[in-house]
Amino acid sequence: MSVALDILLDEDTQKEFASLTAHQQAAFNWQFRWLNEQALKHQIEPAGDWWNIWLLLAGRGAGKTRAAAETLASWAWEQPGTRWLVSAPTSGDLKGTCFEGESGLIKVIPPLLIAKYNSSLHEITLVNGSLIKGQKKGVAVHKNMDTMRLEMTKKAK
Ligand SMILES: Nc1ncnc2c1ncn2[C@@H]1O[C@H](COP(=O)(O)OP(=O)(O)OP(=O)(O)O)[C@@H](O)[C@H]1O
Ligand SMILES: [Mg+2]
Repeated sequence: MSVALDILLDEDTQKEFASLTAHQQAAFNWQFRWLNEQALKHQIEPAGDWWNIWLLLAGRGAGKTRAAAETLASWAWEQPGTRWLVSAPTSGDLKGTCFEGESGLIKVIPPLLIAKYNSSLHEITLVNGSLIKGQKKGVAVHKNMDTMRLEMTKKAK
């Protein structure tokens, strides 16, 4: 028997699970399935807090988009009321791949945890108040970075 199944069959665990809210149960099932049953090794974020950038450089169909969607959505769920940015070259990429694609956010997040989805603005609001916003590359992200750079230059002078 797998360790995961062992845990799930444990009576105390079952009692604890039954005491969770519907949202918490949906989130637990989602995370448990992804991390214990579905994700390949290279799709699980590196352990520890020593890294800032996680680059998935792999061939076609290696599961990059799915890993990104699963991971970002889980961070947004674990940290209520936070804001998350998804960037892609075009609006079509955002909608067709990152949000509504076969490995996209709308596919991976349990519907019960989504309070609102605005397809044209590429915005998902979770029931915990977190917002996942799609932004096409080269607009606000770069503008904000330029502003930041300018501020840093000013401070340095
Ligand atoms: N761990 C997994 N278990 C089962 N199916 C998976 C897993 N990871 C990804 N998939 C599925 O495999 C297919 C390809 O995954 P994904 O789109 O994430 O790959 P990709 O590396 O982003 O591909 P591309 O190079 O085309 O951008 C999708 O249908 C996705 O849902
Ligand atoms: Mg992809």
